[in-house]
Amino acid sequence: MALPPSFLDELRARTPMPGLVGRRVKLTRSGRNWKGLCPFHGEKSPSFYVYDDSFHCFGCGAHGDAFAYVMRAEGGGFMDAVERLAAEAGMDVPKPSPEAAARDRRARDLHDVLQAAEASYVRRLHTPEGAEALAYLRKRGLSDETIAKFGIGWSGAGRGVLAAELREFGIQPAQLVEAGLMQERDEGRLVDLFFNRVMFPIRDRRGRSVSFGGRILGDGQPKYVNGPETALFSKRRNLYALDLAREGVFRGARLIVTEGYMDVIALHQAGFMGAVAPLGTALTEDQLKALWQVSPEPVLCFDGDAAGVRAAARAAEVALPLLSPEHTLHFVTLPSGEDPDTLIRKSGPRAFQAALDAAQPLSEALFTLIVGAKVPEGPEARAALRNRLGAAAQAIPDKALAAEFRRSLLDRFFSLTKRPGLRTAPRHPRPAPDAEAVKAERARILLAICIHHPDLLHDVEEPLSLLELPPGPAQQVRDVLLAWVQEGERLDSGDLIAQLGQSGAASASQWVLRAAGLPMEARPEAQPKEALDAFWQIFGFLRGEAELAEDARAAQSAFAATNDPGAQTRLIRLREALEALRRGEAEAEPGEAG
Ligand code: UTP
Ligand code: MN
Repeated sequence: MALPPSFLDELRARTPMPGLVGRRVKLTRSGRNWKGLCPFHGEKSPSFYVYDDSFHCFGCGAHGDAFAYVMRAEGGGFMDAVERLAAEAGMDVPKPSPEAAARDRRARDLHDVLQAAEASYVRRLHTPEGAEALAYLRKRGLSDETIAKFGIGWSGAGRGVLAAELREFGIQPAQLVEAGLMQERDEGRLVDLFFNRVMFPIRDRRGRSVSFGGRILGDGQPKYVNGPETALFSKRRNLYALDLAREGVFRGARLIVTEGYMDVIALHQAGFMGAVAPLGTALTEDQLKALWQVSPEPVLCFDGDAAGVRAAARAAEVALPLLSPEHTLHFVTLPSGEDPDTLIRKSGPRAFQAALDAAQPLSEALFTLIVGAKVPEGPEARAALRNRLGAAAQAIPDKALAAEFRRSLLDRFFSLTKRPGLRTAPRHPRPAPDAEAVKAERARILLAICIHHPDLLHDVEEPLSLLELPPGPAQQVRDVLLAWVQEGERLDSGDLIAQLGQSGAASASQWVLRAAGLPMEARPEAQPKEALDAFWQIFGFLRGEAELAEDARAAQSAFAATNDPGAQTRLIRLREALEALRRGEAEAEPGEAG
């Protein structure tokens, strides 16, 4: 029996895999996913990974969605699995009606129509008629492999050529109307919706053609035309390249949402295999849910202009009521005037990677998105703003998460609205005897991070050299590190420790590396990103607020002058460090904030 794909999709969405598998298999968190001992083959160490909508065993290769899991775990066929899961999800399995069966057949036929159209467009791109379009794509940096992978084609000049060509395959013009490729004009005359355009096939999450986007060659309006809503295609539900991104994320890529077709394509070509884009609209609720089925924390990447900031704010607003501890977002803002495509062409994939590494969690980005560049002055304006911050947090359904957001937004609010009088007012001198010891311990942790993660040294060489460290072993180790990174040696932790020994800093490095008291982030097994985050946070504490604020101002002007992504990353890091420092102070002196 043919079940409507929409029913199956809904049922899958209502049956998260970790919950389903977790009833039989003991699962533990593994980064963003879950893992456990494979129920389908004997094993002693876990290689069975469970994602939101699928499972995969790296031991025996078992792989599939919720239905496949139930079929394998409990025996029985596809329909048994569907009925079981539908009963649990409180859904009725649709009765097979002749109409439903016919609808299904039509949908299948429609996929075939789109498939045939795609083949025709691709063929035409490689004829003399498509030569200009092919040259255009190559000039924009697309390799032939990329052009083929994305099924890019050339529409031809219209005037019914497509219909004439497809008639030979038994496809009727009426089917082209249903597929969103032709439109009925007055007196029943059919006209092509796409002509003289580069054609980008849009596929659903399973890789079946559902529509097209068409770009004009060079300048002209409208730049892009997207297919109309059809039985298969909805611009509010589909995402461009979601099929490829699912595969990419499965292989370890980050899920990245960009604004346009060419951005997605350029990102994939540059190795960012998790890129998708909405289809000419702001991100919708349905699209966010589809993203979360693929990854718990997609990164939204917006252009660095005013429109990009508005789009980010809008996306955050749509996301808040849907957030949960398992489903959140990250935000990346690109240097102004760049989109991922132009950034990669100008500055290479590393520049985009740098922007990605500086992605802010929603909890951090949200404040600026709500407040804008400047906190307003005056009690009424500030009270109104506090209410908006509170309301944003309240939009989050999960109580604990809402409370966390509320606290972090208000902390930020207070730390930025302390009046100067208050700020500079003498504080009670804290009992000082341990201050030196705290500083020495922080220096030790910072240096341990550098030794265990020497590949960070290139990025932090300059801040490290700026720090005022306690005299003795800390300074001794720092000097060796800085000399070593300037030698341009291969950055390997073992070599570095050996080098410290040879430079007469053996006992100083033992002092640094003493395991007791080293936090997770400073240990060798920490993730590079955790280590880098921790570096900047501790750097902030050691550097002190006034100097840090000065560093941030300097980085701001450097970035404004050069628009260089490296400068931007540095600016973001410094600001984060400054905020962490101010938050830390507010926590240490709770009386002061209120
Ligand atoms: P952009 O104008 O940012 O274009 O539109 P782009 O992706 O950078 O395109 P190139 O690099 O000039 O080729 C972003 C997205 O907005 C939608 C399309 O989905 C596009 O990819 N759009 C844009 C339209 O639907 N219609 C338009 O006329 C323009
Ligand atoms: Mn572009």
